[in-house]
Amino acid sequence: MASVTLDKVNKVFGSTHIIKDVDLNIGNGEFVVFVGPSGCGKSTLLRLIAGLESISDGELCIGDSVVNELPPRERGVGMVFQSYALYPHMTVYENMAFGLKLAKMVKETVDDRVMATARILQLEELLQRKPKELSGGQRQRVAMGRAMAREPRILLFDEPLSNLDASLRVQMRNEIARLHQRLESTMIYVTHDQVEAMTLADKIVVLNAGRIEQVGSPQELYQRPATKFVAGFIGSPTMNFMPATLAASGREGCRVHSPGLHELALPQDATDHADGAALTLGVRPEHLRLDEACGDNAFEIVNVEYLGNEVYVYLEAGDTLLIHRSEAPSKWQTGQRVALTPDPEHVHLFDAQDRALPAMRTRAAA
Ligand SMILES: Nc1ncnc2c1ncn2[C@@H]1O[C@H](COP(=O)(O)OP(=O)(O)OP(=O)(O)O)[C@@H](O)[C@H]1O
Ligand SMILES: [Mg+2]
Repeated sequence: MASVTLDKVNKVFGSTHIIKDVDLNIGNGEFVVFVGPSGCGKSTLLRLIAGLESISDGELCIGDSVVNELPPRERGVGMVFQSYALYPHMTVYENMAFGLKLAKMVKETVDDRVMATARILQLEELLQRKPKELSGGQRQRVAMGRAMAREPRILLFDEPLSNLDASLRVQMRNEIARLHQRLESTMIYVTHDQVEAMTLADKIVVLNAGRIEQVGSPQELYQRPATKFVAGFIGSPTMNFMPATLAASGREGCRVHSPGLHELALPQDATDHADGAALTLGVRPEHLRLDEACGDNAFEIVNVEYLGNEVYVYLEAGDTLLIHRSEAPSKWQTGQRVALTPDPEHVHLFDAQDRALPAMRTRAAA
């Protein structure tokens, strides 16, 4: 168990700048999840921490020591890869013992460590099997066991569940959460999966093109995204965005126009922006209300998806396509025309640079 600190960390491959000025503090025993689109640098950042890639510029500390020059095996870090990378000719026992033997540990210690790890991961019955005789989930556990047996201070996971089917993912997600509670070790976890990120993380790091967009708890990122990028990335189905114009702003909040909607009075502070400024309005699918109002039903329902417990309604007006989510059953049908009202308490506004406008209260408190 140890903290990890990145101070202006950069990585350049040839002439390509991949990781850009990353500052990050990961506390002792914290569960941190990296998310971001493909190619944004998640695996690279993990490999820099593990020591599998060298840092081009900046400082990386594990605990109180700078580890920039320390080889991977001396960093006290264990890594679990998406591909598992198990040795096919070795048994489960040998796979887990391999790294320990390499570290010249005496046989009794190797045996104790492997058996203790196997007990935690419920692999005791499988120790003499080869990887090809295991299910996907069991292989996954062996890969975790191999990393854990070395008793690393930090466990790194790079999309460890992406090869598993949906129900096994749920089961393994649960096991990883419980493992973290039991081991209390620092864990850094890369995933594409929204649900894994939201459910496992104490802290989510959103990466975009090699930079950190925002760091926060799942709830903070969901409720108060700092940028349009984070707003669109966290949450599924994704947040709806609509063009908007600032009509007025003052100490009580602001008023905003958006095509197809009634003028909205919102609690954001827009006093830094001129009336008429172009903004983007963001609202999550669960924070929209649909009505068959008389008169200006600006939106047409173009598709209705029934998912059992909830219903997604797709709405169109001109070039704008929106999604509405509600609990099943739903009375809405394709072809109907409706009026749409966002819940003002849950509307987000973004400026021309895609930064979120602050809430009035936040500024008063600051
Ligand atoms: N050894 C390398 N040499 C040159 N470029 C590299 C190298 N490794 C990674 N890159 C580039 O760095 C960028 C980030 O790659 P990385 O694997 O970290 O992305 P990622 O966020 O993990 O993506 P994914 O979600 O697809 O796994 C990509 O543009 C990739 O092509
Ligand atoms: Mg990756």
